[in-house]
Amino acid sequence: MPRISYVNGRYVHHGYATVHMEDRGYQFSDGIYEVIAFYSRRLLDEALHTRRLLRSLRELSIAAPMSERALGLVMREIIARNDRTDGTLYMQISRGVARRDHPFPAAAKPGFVMAVTGPKMPKEKEVKEGVAVITAPEQRWSRRDIKTISLLPNVLAKQAATKAGAREAWLVEKDGFISEGAVSNNAIVTRTGEIITHPLNESILGGVTRDVVLTLARKAKMKVTERPFSLKEAKAAGEAFLTSTTSNVLPVVKIDGAPIGTGRPGPVTLKLLALYHEHIFRQTGKRWN
Ligand code: PDD
Repeated sequence: MPRISYVNGRYVHHGYATVHMEDRGYQFSDGIYEVIAFYSRRLLDEALHTRRLLRSLRELSIAAPMSERALGLVMREIIARNDRTDGTLYMQISRGVARRDHPFPAAAKPGFVMAVTGPKMPKEKEVKEGVAVITAPEQRWSRRDIKTISLLPNVLAKQAATKAGAREAWLVEKDGFISEGAVSNNAIVTRTGEIITHPLNESILGGVTRDVVLTLARKAKMKVTERPFSLKEAKAAGEAFLTSTTSNVLPVVKIDGAPIGTGRPGPVTLKLLALYHEHIFRQTGKRWN
């Protein structure tokens, strides 16, 4: 089955999935994106991803390229036209094609592309044994709550992690507090079992996985506190983990080479992972071993 993508109203072979050089996404990173997982060909947390996508568009005054209903249909059509049963959909909406000039063009139609990607899911060993993260300086802009395609600082931080043999880079602000990862949210668990994670504000992306995991934790009567934590606290924590569409709940067992807690995935993290797997199963029917 060939790989089929969506480009501005047409389903095309992935090799022909191209946009114009004056697309403002390409020239100014003037656009937003979403990544949504599907399992057993069913979308996971579609409503939450759609809500965030529409919010990102509103925050940047980019018109929605189609109705919410039509968006749902295109997502399903792309899954149907590709041969993966589990994977992720990448979608990107730019302000459109216009002669290069910084102010918004008077009459550009938003550019809209979608493709099946991944899955870049962690390997079984990484989930079982946990992963290492490094730290990198936080050097992004002050509206990180918008899922903009402007990802250069994230790319550089993730490259530093890859080079160091780590899964992720945790971004440290000048005051020593950690905002989030280059491509994920994060949390620590104190030695008394309290889950601590950065609150929702303009310093982090409001992750859908984070949102779902916190709801599941609260339902299970686990103690959750939303407040920033410092690198020093993270190093002294009992457990740590990260969350994202492409990692689910992933135990973090090392920061900058130093073990966290026992250096093994802890009970709170493993409980959250199990709850999250149940959540995926309830929505999509995908079973985890
Ligand atoms: N990344 N923070 C950042 C900076 C992210 O890029 C992501 C997701 C998250 C987690 O959000 P969610 O749980 O909704 O996936 C947090 C996606 C997967 C990516 O860029 O590929």
